[in-house]
This record gives sequence, structure tokens and C-alpha cells, in this order.
Amino acid sequence: MPATSTLLAPSILSADFTRLAASIEIAEKAGADWMHCDIMDGAFVPNITFGPFIVQTIASCTKMVIDTHLMITDPDRYIEDFVKAGSHQITVHQEACTHLHRTVQFIKSLGAKAGVSINPATPVSTLESILPDLDLVLIMSVNPGFGGQKFIPSAIGKIRQLHDMRLEMNPDLVIAVDGGITEDNAGSVVSAGADALIAGTAFFKSQDPAGTAAKIKALTR
Ligand code: DX5
Ligand code: ZN
Repeated sequence: MPATSTLLAPSILSADFTRLAASIEIAEKAGADWMHCDIMDGAFVPNITFGPFIVQTIASCTKMVIDTHLMITDPDRYIEDFVKAGSHQITVHQEACTHLHRTVQFIKSLGAKAGVSINPATPVSTLESILPDLDLVLIMSVNPGFGGQKFIPSAIGKIRQLHDMRLEMNPDLVIAVDGGITEDNAGSVVSAGADALIAGTAFFKSQDPAGTAAKIKALTR
């Protein structure tokens, strides 16, 4: 089973990019576990963010796990670049991969952990055949594309469903949840079965990021 104390993954998207190294240090000192890097291509999602060069810069500043979330079409084109840039985990979208099994094996062949994310309208059942091969599933609790959106409550039922599936099919699977996480909803997300919470706004815009981190990390199922 995955660890029972909650993993925290601040999303760098909500950090102050004029002070990137200082923002990363705030996360590291607050005890964050992963640094979540949101890669958007303006095609799979309406927004554009950054590429491997910035991931490499982030990786050079921290010992945290670099957790790269690829919100891009045909991710196979760039997976190797993001692993070379220092990503320890690569998550692709189920909706963006025609040959998901091949993509997952490719990520693993490069020595990174393989994750698959599903959008709010994509059922958990679409992951059934690939679940035994995965290290991580990222349940989107907003429509991907922007930080600062409101949590979509139907994610809770999907987390529960995935938790039941993993007990049978892949007990080591890590369940991560991304989008609209706050100190108020984090408890119910973890109770439903989440191991790792991605927090952009809730962490980087907090008056007290270390306090927010401590509250989230102290949550247990
Ligand atoms: C959304 C991104 C999220 C987002 C999280 O497309 O994948 O990681 O940055 O930000 P908040 O926590 O503000 O929803
Ligand atoms: Zn993300």
C-alpha cells in the first residue's frame, strides 16, 4: 500500500516566476514531497506554459521529486526530453494517447515512473486495462488548462472507485488529485483514497505556505 501520510505536490504554475528559485525553496522548506510541473501546449488545453528547459532549471534547484504533468497532444514526441530534463515521474493524459500502453512502457523504459491522468468527464473504468502497469494515476478535479479553478465534487466518487480498483489490481498504485485543492476539501479527498495532493493556489498564494503544507501533510486516511 502507498504511504498513509499525505504527499504534497505544489504546482509551480502558481509560484512567483520572477523568484523561481526562492519559490522552490519555500516548497522544499515546507516539506513538500514533489514539485509538480504543469506542461501545456495550447492544443490539448487552451493555455501554454513552459518546456523542458524550465523543468531542467527547476530540477537543478531542488531534491524534491520532479513530477511532470504533460497536458499536451501526442506526448511521445517530448517524453524523453522531459526525462532528460530531470523528471522523475511523467504523467500523460489518457485522452491524449492513442496507444497508451506503448506510451506507458516508453516512460518506464527511460527510468521514470509512469502516470496517467483523466479529465473530469473521463470515467475511471477507462484505466482498467492499464492499471497494473501504472505507478500513478492523476485524477483531475478541474478541467486542465489553468490554475485557480474550483474543485469539481464528482472527483470524490472517482477517487473512491479507483481506490477500490487498486486494492484488487495494483496495491502500490499512487492516487494523486489535481485541481482546486484547498485546506477545506483536502480532508475529504484523502478520506476517499488520495495519497498525493497537487496544490497550486492553496500553497503558493497562502499567507502561510508552511502552515498549509503541514495541515495537508498531516491528513491520514
Ligand atoms: C491544471 C493544472 C493544475 C493546477 C493546480 O490544469 O494541472 O496542476 O495548476 O492549480 P490549483 O491548485 O490552483 O487548482
Ligand atoms: Zn497539474
